[in-house]
Amino acid sequence: MGFLKRLACYAYILCSIFKVYVLAAAYLLKQYTSKIRKPTGIEGSNRGKVAIVTGGGSGIGYHISKQLAKHGVQVIIGLIAASPKLSESEEAIRKIKHEMPEAKVEFLHLDLSSLESIRNFVDAFLQKKCPLHILINNAGLMFPPYTKTVDGFELQLQVNYLGHVLLTSLLWEKLKTTGQLHSYSRVINVASSVHYVSDMPADLDNLNQEQQNFSAHAAYMHSKLAVVMATYYLQRQLNRDGHYITVNVADPGVVSSGLFKYVSGFVKCFLVRPAAALGILWTMEDGAYTSVHLALSSEVEGQGGRYFFNCTNAKSSHLSQNVYLQEELWHKTCDVLHLDVNWPSTCT
Ligand SMILES: *[C@@H]1O[C@H](CO)[C@@H](O)[C@H](O)[C@H]1NC(C)=O
Ligand SMILES: *[C@@H]1O[C@H](CO)[C@@H](O)[C@H](O)[C@H]1NC(C)=O
Repeated sequence: MGFLKRLACYAYILCSIFKVYVLAAAYLLKQYTSKIRKPTGIEGSNRGKVAIVTGGGSGIGYHISKQLAKHGVQVIIGLIAASPKLSESEEAIRKIKHEMPEAKVEFLHLDLSSLESIRNFVDAFLQKKCPLHILINNAGLMFPPYTKTVDGFELQLQVNYLGHVLLTSLLWEKLKTTGQLHSYSRVINVASSVHYVSDMPADLDNLNQEQQNFSAHAAYMHSKLAVVMATYYLQRQLNRDGHYITVNVADPGVVSSGLFKYVSGFVKCFLVRPAAALGILWTMEDGAYTSVHLALSSEVEGQGGRYFFNCTNAKSSHLSQNVYLQEELWHKTCDVLHLDVNWPSTCT
């Protein structure tokens, strides 16, 4: 690579890092100066409802699962149930059952970094022959080093975005048959405030992008912007076809969670730990509230295509609302996943 090109790459990578941390700092300030809103409008019993929570064995997902179980929902947690993580998963479920002996919680193996694993997960779920009222696409990775999945996609792109699109498409029929007027099935896509600083949704033209030009920060924010845009696209299809499903985005806020695993020691030392100690970072329990609100609150019944932060409807980035880009993203997404672009409508 020429000197100038390399310089441009470094600038791109540094600029991405800078954007992410400035955004995080702004959010921290906002969170610091105000209180968190808890889920509201959750009335009556939710017994009999079934939810899938991806990545529900740890971090925010664990707390989403726990809070749903507390409201009587039967929760199926999709998580990597292979050693060495298996015991961690079993421990997570044991903890929920210990606190709530009535809780109906179980896990099924789901590795979003493998499209085959996603298909197997759905097969295993469908064999249970139970309805599906709530799908929470929560699992996510932040800033891992450059890695390609077995399917040839960058790891964050597949786990945060592509894998969840495939999962949703495979469960669509189930969601459709479960949803009823006044009791819509609900899909909640967990995104992140970092989508605000992304200038393009998932880079699907550059799947084989050079590793030298890889910015884990950029890949993360682009994958989250893609999640937001695909949510809006899907909801528009639903509005047109009249199925009883809603799709919304949950922004958990800047939360102290396992997502910081890959963050550099410097940032952990000077930003993450002090912020956690001062109580500026929301806890993982706090981070679960918006998803739980979208999953169960009567206030959002029948409402889709919205971005929620702090259990409140908020505005996502200007770019995310670009209908033309949403369609382009959708076509490319279905193309790389070998899905029919009309799957939301044509699933019978
Ligand atoms: C690096 O990749 C991004 C997209 O992934 C692109 O926008 C940017 O121009 C690239 N930079 C260089 C120097 O190749
Ligand atoms: C969250 O919502 C509460 C109640 O509406 C509000 O007072 C608070 O300012 C909000 N916090 C943030 C960080 O937006």
